[in-house]
Amino acid sequence: MTVSPRAIHLSDYLPYTHLVEEVALVFRLAPKATRVAATLRLAPNPARPGRHDLRLDGENLRLLSLRLNGAALECAPDDTGLTIPAAHLPDGPFTVETEVEIDPEGNTALEGLYMSRGMYCTQCEAEGFRKITFYPDRPDVMAPFRVRVEGDLPVLLSNGNPTGQGTGWAEWVDPWPKPAYLFALVAGDLVAHSAPFRTASGREVALNIWVRKGDEDRCAYAMDSLIRSMRWDEEVYGREYDLDVFNIVAVDDFNMGAMENKGLNIFNSKFVLASPETATDDDFARIEAIIAHEYFHNWTGNRITCRDWFQLCLKEGLTVFRDQQFSGDMRSHAVKRIEDVLLLRARQFREDGGPLAHPVRPDSYVEINNFYTATIYEKGAEVIGMLKRLVGDEGYAKALDLYFTRHDGQAATIEDWLTVFQDATGRDLTQFKRWYTEAGTPRVKVWEEWDGATYTLTFEQENPPTPGQPEKGAKVIPIALGLLNPNGDEVLPTTVLELTEGRQSFRFPAATRPVPSILRGFSAPVVLEREVSPEERAFLLAHDTDPFNKWEAGRALAKDLLARMVTDGAAPGPDWLDAIARVTFDETLDPAFRALALRLPGEDDMAATLHAGGVTPDPARIWTERRRMAEALAKRLGPQLPGLIEALAEPGPFTPDARAAGRRSLRIAALNLLTRIDGGRAAQAAYRAANNMTEEVGALVALLEAGAGQEELVAFEARWAKDRNVMDKWFALQIALAHPDRAVGVTEALTRHPDFDWKNPNRFRSVIGALSGNHAGFHHASGAGYRLVADWLLKLDPLNPQTAARMSTAFDTWPRYDADRQGMVQAELARMAATPGLSRDLGEMVGRMRG
Ligand code: PHE
Ligand code: ZN
Repeated sequence: MTVSPRAIHLSDYLPYTHLVEEVALVFRLAPKATRVAATLRLAPNPARPGRHDLRLDGENLRLLSLRLNGAALECAPDDTGLTIPAAHLPDGPFTVETEVEIDPEGNTALEGLYMSRGMYCTQCEAEGFRKITFYPDRPDVMAPFRVRVEGDLPVLLSNGNPTGQGTGWAEWVDPWPKPAYLFALVAGDLVAHSAPFRTASGREVALNIWVRKGDEDRCAYAMDSLIRSMRWDEEVYGREYDLDVFNIVAVDDFNMGAMENKGLNIFNSKFVLASPETATDDDFARIEAIIAHEYFHNWTGNRITCRDWFQLCLKEGLTVFRDQQFSGDMRSHAVKRIEDVLLLRARQFREDGGPLAHPVRPDSYVEINNFYTATIYEKGAEVIGMLKRLVGDEGYAKALDLYFTRHDGQAATIEDWLTVFQDATGRDLTQFKRWYTEAGTPRVKVWEEWDGATYTLTFEQENPPTPGQPEKGAKVIPIALGLLNPNGDEVLPTTVLELTEGRQSFRFPAATRPVPSILRGFSAPVVLEREVSPEERAFLLAHDTDPFNKWEAGRALAKDLLARMVTDGAAPGPDWLDAIARVTFDETLDPAFRALALRLPGEDDMAATLHAGGVTPDPARIWTERRRMAEALAKRLGPQLPGLIEALAEPGPFTPDARAAGRRSLRIAALNLLTRIDGGRAAQAAYRAANNMTEEVGALVALLEAGAGQEELVAFEARWAKDRNVMDKWFALQIALAHPDRAVGVTEALTRHPDFDWKNPNRFRSVIGALSGNHAGFHHASGAGYRLVADWLLKLDPLNPQTAARMSTAFDTWPRYDADRQGMVQAELARMAATPGLSRDLGEMVGRMRG
């Protein structure tokens, strides 16, 4: 990465010059000219002795008036803020009043105060508050807020507790000191789905989910998830809610998934609204997880926040870890772990192995919005999982209790977090800290030896170079191990080995040669390299007692096979087919697990694996061979598929619970295979019979993957044309599943569809994001996929740089491919880089990807 002069460095951190003792805001809402009056009570910060200028951040604000201790002050803002020279400031506390005018309707970046279909809403993380008023917009400045909202709309919301309201106004007080990024305001013609909650200590809390009229019957699942999250955080972490109300608002235009604003979470509507007719089982699971995630932030993020944005993983890694624990408790730990690892490998390993690799705690950035990444979130959560494994459940519980008592009300760092663990458990975490400061996915090689009496496992770790970090030290890698004897009995139950050196051996007494089950539960985010025969993999798939490794054995078998099909034209043999058949029909296993075992490795994953093995991946060939693999499996299982589909039919009404969802997922996986050999008959019938979105989409996907489904697409559109969230699926599916030669054409046609509202991030992602997710279509040899995606990123960038930059990660895998493709991607990156007026967001991403 070329370090731009504008880069911000962790090592430059200094506390803010002043303390903000209180904030009072008055909003007079108007679409094109909202007035914001702010009164800040300030005092010199003893942590920064001496006299200092007062620097307030501010962007795109029209300053109407400025007063210091009540007296008007002439002081012109610059492009990024306002400075009141130290000479004007008294020695002690003082008050600054500003009034500014902003334009919510003209705000297409969806950061700051903006409008989404007639409602006002805000997004302030990371640095959006400076687009609302002049303020020290940094997370270590924490203050209580009082807010008055005036506007001609029935519902006027802000953070904290309501303290008064009348026609056209409402007042809110948030007693908990918070950083500005947690500020929120919502105003609109909304209706609430409400429920009461009583905390463990007896506080009554009013829960409301605010939506547009007509959507109120799609809030029940989100509300149920919220209540379960609140209870779970009390029971598992001892954390209670701390205000009289908890509001959630669903908005249609949102750059991310959701936001944890204090007492007023704002959600992308697709992660709130659900009914059996409109949401799939995956949607229900995601809603449950995101509702929990945002709620859990109330303690891990809000009560204890981050000192600076380099510490983002302090709140995000921990909160993801907590939401994963919650989902596991609500559903199945085994299935949840497999799904989380699939996602980790698809997103985070990909990021960590390319030009965008960065540490869980980065030490520099140009645009912080570019660091809401899989590394900060998902690897951040993995690091906590390892910590918990190393100190044990009790050590973890003690450390978390200490964290909450010691740092409540503070803006903390990763050093604070690790010190808490050291103090609570006595464990030295100096070496462990490398997981936070060094990027890259460690590769762990394993050899085994057995001499008739002793079994020896030797591990070697390699920490590959990443941008800016050519050399790295050995990491602490917890490796959960079990040993099986040749008849399948477990002879060593799960034991955690601690790999701390570059090369290290572990010995076990063994009278017969055991079969090892290594990295159980995916105990560390590493790539395990070991020569294993297909027989041994099939053995573990049949006998491993660890569900993750049982699944992993099947996955490795499939990946080895697909790699051989791609590189030397091998055919799917009975070893893989029989092993998968046994799992598919094993009624002692959870149907959700069986469905995951049936899922073939993804194309992008295969490309990464081939590249790591020294083979240049050919996307078209991977696509063809993966299809051939699915067809072979369909033929092998064929005669038994109709029976399986029949047996898994749910007789009663739809319920979104894990048991029913698991049965549907296996049923749909079976239908998908059957569609490859029955000419689409079963899927067409299933589409017509479906009475829930899971089965409707499942049947449509099966047909589209088989190259059919055109009639069903027409029917789907006719039925759902008015429903934005459902129509996003319609746009995305036909692009994501298009034949590689047609993917670009289908995308182009859909960009001309009257409902392709490209300024809406969900719709943009459903179309342009779906093309970059169609591996062979995006990486088409013609280069047309690259060109189309770059064209649209350039079109979106001036309006919404944050979303354009996030989606540019489509290009980060170019080093894997052949010289032609590399050249074409480089040309697109160069074209983007040379575009006048490119945003800082997209500019930084393109610069890093060019290397
Ligand atoms: N903090 C939000 C979350 O993780 C994500 C987010 C970041 C949303 C930035 C909007 C903008 O829950
Ligand atoms: Zn979060």
